[in-house]
Amino acid sequence: MKSSEIRQKFIEYFEKQGHRHVPSSSLIPENDPTLLFANAGMNQFKNTFLGLEKRDYTRAVSSQKCVRAGGKHNDLENVGFTARHHTFFEMLGNFSFGDYFKKDAIRFAWEFLTKDLAIPKEKLYVTVHLSDDEAADIWHQQEGIPKDRIFRFDKDNFWKMGDTGPCGPCTEIFYDHGPSAGTIADPYKGIAAGEDRFVEIWNLVFMQYFENPPGTLTPLPKPSVDTGAGLERVVAAMQGKFNNYDTDLFKPMLDVACKIGGIEYVTDLNTLKTNKEIAERTSALRVLADHCRSSAFLIADGALPSNEGRGYVLRRIMRRAIRYGRKLSTDKSFLPGMAEALIESMGSVYPELKERRDHILNTIRDEEDRFSATLDNGTGLLMEELKKAKAKGVKELSGEVVFKMYDTYGFPADLTRVIANENGIEVNEEAFEKEMENNRARSKASWKGKALDADEQHLIKFSKDYAATGKTTKFTGYDDFAGGGNITALSNGREVVKELKNGQTGVMILDATSFYGEGGGQVGDVGYIMNGPSRARVVNTTKTDDVVLHHVEVEHGDFKIGNAVDTIVDPIDRRNTMANHSATHLLHSALRRVLGTHVTQAGSLVDAQKTRFDFTHNKPVSSEEIRQIEDMVNEQIARSLDVKIELMNPKDAIAKGAMALFGEKYGDVVRVLTMGDFSTELCGGTHVKNTSQIRLFKILSESGVSSGVRRLEATTGDHAVKFAMTAIQHFDEALSAAGLQKSPHYLKHLEATGETSTLANRVEGLKEQIKMLEKEMKKLQGGQVNVDELAAKALTFKTKSGAAAKLVLADVPLDDRQVLAEITDHLKNKIQNGVVVVVGQGEGSHPIIVSVSKDITGETKAGDLLKEMAGIMGGKGGGRPDFAQGAAPQRDKLADAFVKVRSLLGV
Ligand code: ALA
Repeated sequence: MKSSEIRQKFIEYFEKQGHRHVPSSSLIPENDPTLLFANAGMNQFKNTFLGLEKRDYTRAVSSQKCVRAGGKHNDLENVGFTARHHTFFEMLGNFSFGDYFKKDAIRFAWEFLTKDLAIPKEKLYVTVHLSDDEAADIWHQQEGIPKDRIFRFDKDNFWKMGDTGPCGPCTEIFYDHGPSAGTIADPYKGIAAGEDRFVEIWNLVFMQYFENPPGTLTPLPKPSVDTGAGLERVVAAMQGKFNNYDTDLFKPMLDVACKIGGIEYVTDLNTLKTNKEIAERTSALRVLADHCRSSAFLIADGALPSNEGRGYVLRRIMRRAIRYGRKLSTDKSFLPGMAEALIESMGSVYPELKERRDHILNTIRDEEDRFSATLDNGTGLLMEELKKAKAKGVKELSGEVVFKMYDTYGFPADLTRVIANENGIEVNEEAFEKEMENNRARSKASWKGKALDADEQHLIKFSKDYAATGKTTKFTGYDDFAGGGNITALSNGREVVKELKNGQTGVMILDATSFYGEGGGQVGDVGYIMNGPSRARVVNTTKTDDVVLHHVEVEHGDFKIGNAVDTIVDPIDRRNTMANHSATHLLHSALRRVLGTHVTQAGSLVDAQKTRFDFTHNKPVSSEEIRQIEDMVNEQIARSLDVKIELMNPKDAIAKGAMALFGEKYGDVVRVLTMGDFSTELCGGTHVKNTSQIRLFKILSESGVSSGVRRLEATTGDHAVKFAMTAIQHFDEALSAAGLQKSPHYLKHLEATGETSTLANRVEGLKEQIKMLEKEMKKLQGGQVNVDELAAKALTFKTKSGAAAKLVLADVPLDDRQVLAEITDHLKNKIQNGVVVVVGQGEGSHPIIVSVSKDITGETKAGDLLKEMAGIMGGKGGGRPDFAQGAAPQRDKLADAFVKVRSLLGV
C-alpha cells in the first residue's frame, strides 16, 4: 500500500468516526516560544485540552508535520545511521476533547490497524501504564488480546508534553518486524530494551491531568485523548521494509540523488554490514533525504537559515546535508534536485511546498553556495590542524582551534567535532566554551572600554552608582508630554556636582520625568526642563537600568539638587516619533502578511523623522510589494484603530499572540501593545493613542543590510504629509510644464482615459520628440554645408606610387561629430581616392576628422596625419589607417596644420 493511501485511509477512517479533519499546523509555533518546532500532533490543540479554547468540534484527526532537531531531544546526529530516526516526520493522530475516552480510542486504533490496514494481529503487541488496569482490561476483554501480549511499563507509558502542560498515562502499540530484525526474541525484553525489531507505531495518550508546577497534577476539566502514529513507521511495516528510508516516502528523493551522483542506493543488510564504503554511501543518501525534507518543510513554513534560534537549527541541518552530499561527490549539488522531487511527490498533501517552491529552492541554493565557500576555505585548514595533532600524538583538538574554525571560517563547533571524530580526534568542548566566553568578554571590552573617553566612562559610573542606591526614575511620559520631578543627582559630564549653572552642560537625574530615555529602537526625547525662570535645553535622553539621564545645556539661571522642575518634552518631535513607532508595528505586521511569516525583526531605529526597520528576507522587496505594504498600513491608519496597552506576564502575552523576538529575554511584566486585529507586540516605547494619528505612511527606501536581511525606511506624520505635499506641488509644476491638467483633475482624467500615467507618457513622448528633432537638426546642418563646393576646391597630388590623388582641407563651422563624419564621407565619395581633412568648430575644443582612401593607406595613414595636426593645434587623437578623429583647442594654428598636411603629402 502506498504511503499516500495510508495517510488518506487514516484521515478517512476517523472522519467516518465523526472526527473533523484539521490541517497540520505550521512547523513554527506562532504562539509558543517554549517550543522550537512543532513536535507532536497535539501541539496545536494544547489550549483546547486545557479548556482554554473552545472549538466547534470535539473530535479531530490530523497528519501533523513534526521536526525533532535541536533543543533537548536532539536526534540530529543519529539520522542516517539508524532505521527510524528522522528530523522531519509526519504524525498521524486522532483527538478527543472531552468526548470519547479509553474504550473508543482503543477500539478505533485496533480496528484501523487490523481491519483497514489488515495488519495481522500476531504482529502486534501492546503496552499500558503500570497503574492502568482499565486500559489493560479493555485490550483484553474488548479486543480479545491475550494477556501475555499486554505489557506494563511505568515511565514509558506516561506521556507529557513538557515539564508542564497536559499529560496522562498512555498505551502503545508495537509492530514486530520478525526474528531477522533483531537479536532479542522475547517481546517484553525486546520492547523494554528498545530493540529495533519491535517498533512502536502508535501511542494513545489518555489526557487526564494538567501538570503545573512540575510534579503537581490536577485533573483536566474533561478527560481527553491524544494519539500519535508515526507515518514513516506505519508505512515501513505496511511495505515490509525494516528501514523507514526504504519506503516510497523517500524513494523519489533517493532516485534523484542517485541520478545526480551516478550511484546506487544499496539496502541489502549483509552488503551494508560487510562493505564500509557502500554503507557510508547509503547513510549519506539517507541523511540527505531526511534533511532535504526538514529543510524544505521548514523553509516553506517561514524559517530561514541564520546564526541564531530556529534559523540556526535549520542552518545546521542544511549544512550537515551539504557535507554528506560532498562525500558522495565533491562537485555535484544534491539538495535542490531532491527538494524538487519532494515538492513533486508531497506537494498535493502539503500545498505550501508548491506555493513556495521557488523560495524553497532559492534558499537551498543560496545556503549551498555560501556553505561551499566556507567549506572550501575551512576544511583544508582543519585537516592541517588534525595532521599536526596526529603528528604530535595529541588525541584532542584544542578549544582555541575549534574556536578559530568557528570564528574565522564559520564552522559550527559540532561540524568541527564530526570531522575531527572521523579522523579519530576528540574535541575539547570545555576549552571551546571557555574560548567563547573569553571572546564575549573581549568583544565587550573592546566595545566599551576602548571607545569611551574619560567623560563617557564617568557618565556610565555616574548612572550605575545612582542605580546601585536602588533609586529609579518614574516615567510619566506615556500619557503626558509635560510632567514634573525633583532633581536627585547632577553631573557636569566629568564629575558629580551639586549645581549646574547658566551656560554649563551636564546630565540631570530626576525622580520622575516625562522624557523618554532611548531604548527599544526609539531615540530619546528632546525639550526643556524648567524651574521658574531657569531653563535647560534637553538635547538627548538616555537610560541605564531604570535611571533616566537628561543631557542638558543650561540656557538660563541654574539648577540645584532638590529643585522641583517641570519637564517639557518637545511635542512636535515626540508626536512624530510616536507616529513613526506605531507605524513600525503596523509595518512589521504588514510585512509578514505580504512577504510571509519568515519575516522577523532584525533591528530598528525610530526617531522623529523616520523609522528604519531591518528584517529577515532573502531578496529585495519589489516595488509592487512595497505598494501593497504601504496600502495595507495606510488602511490600518484609516481604520482609526485604538492602540491598547496592557501590562501582563510574558506567558499570557505570548498566549495572546504577541510578536516577541525569539531568544529575547523579557522581564516579569511586559507591556503588550495591540492595534485592533492587526498587530500585537511587546513594546516599551511611546505610541499614538489611535492609528489615525499616524496620518500617512510612506516608504522612502529599500536596501540590503547583510545576507538575508533587508532594510526599509519609512516616514509618517508631519514628515510624510510634508513629503506628499511637496511631491504634489512638484508634480503640479511638472504637469503644467508638460501642458497637462493640474492634479485635482489628473486622477479623473486617468480614470476617464484608462491611461496609467499621462505625465510619464508625456515625458517619454517629449524625449522621443527631442531625439527626432536632433536628428532633423543634424540633417539640416549637414545640408547647409556645400560639399560640392568643398570638393571642387580639392588639391591634386601624386602618391608615392605615382597615382593621381586629391586632398580636401575643409574648415567647417559645426560642432556635431556625427554631422562632420557624414560630411567627411560625402567628400571622400566625391574625390574617390585621396585624403579628406575636416576641422569643425566647437566650444574650447575643435573636432578634427581625417579620412584616407584605402589605396594609399600603405603610405599615408589617417592616424599619423591626425597626430601631426593635433600636435600643432595642442590636442590629441588617433584611429585606424583609413579613418581617425580627435580634437584640439588651438584653432588659430589651423593654417599651420593644413600646411603641414600638404607638405607631408607633397602637395
Ligand atoms: N502526543 C503523543 C506523542 O507525541 C501522542 O507521542
